[in-house]
Amino acid sequence: MKFFLDTAEIKEIRELAASGLVDGITTNPSLVMKSGRQFVDVVREICEIIPGPVSAEVISTEHETMLAEGRKLAKIAGNVVVKVPLTPDGLKTCYKLSQEGTKVNVTLCFSAAQALLAAKSGATYISPFVGRLDDIGTDGMQLIRDIVQIYRAYDNLKTEVLVASVRHPIHVIEAAKMGAHVATLPPSVLKQMFNHPLTDKGLAAFLADWAKTGQKIL
Ligand code: E4P
Repeated sequence: MKFFLDTAEIKEIRELAASGLVDGITTNPSLVMKSGRQFVDVVREICEIIPGPVSAEVISTEHETMLAEGRKLAKIAGNVVVKVPLTPDGLKTCYKLSQEGTKVNVTLCFSAAQALLAAKSGATYISPFVGRLDDIGTDGMQLIRDIVQIYRAYDNLKTEVLVASVRHPIHVIEAAKMGAHVATLPPSVLKQMFNHPLTDKGLAAFLADWAKTGQKIL
């Protein structure tokens, strides 16, 4: 399973990339706003740090303008993935860009029907938002289960399931058990995945016993 980081914060990207755990990055207009940076500059800088796919989202809602924005974003670097919303204009843009050889991430997916349309439009990734579905009292992970099952049933559907709006490590583990291709994690969730109280307790005990030996390695 691939891990993407869902952030536009350069410092966090650098820190976590050093662990070798980061296969790609997703950004969105809200994350760019939080970063306080110029969109194109921040995408360019991320692409220099991370060789894997970096999603950059269009902000127009109309096909022709979306297409122009997508083409401009794709020129920033070879690893840019253009992100479009799951609307009729978004999928038309997805189809056109994918025909041109640009990778597309279709975002804001909340149903299996939408995911099926995105795959047929040539999306490289579909981004179902599990946390936002949980927030309205529905089962976000059930959507992942449904999409994985549908895509697996057809060899011609090559779209990867990119689990988005991840809120905690259990979302990641459930997605991995279902065979989702990618999860995009807020840095805080990736950091949480390291934690276990028995690891801390065990390490403290080993270090205390080591101190009693009076030995050194270096
Ligand atoms: C995915 O690409 C989105 O940027 C993201 O996962 C949205 O998550 P949120 O619901 O926490 O805003």
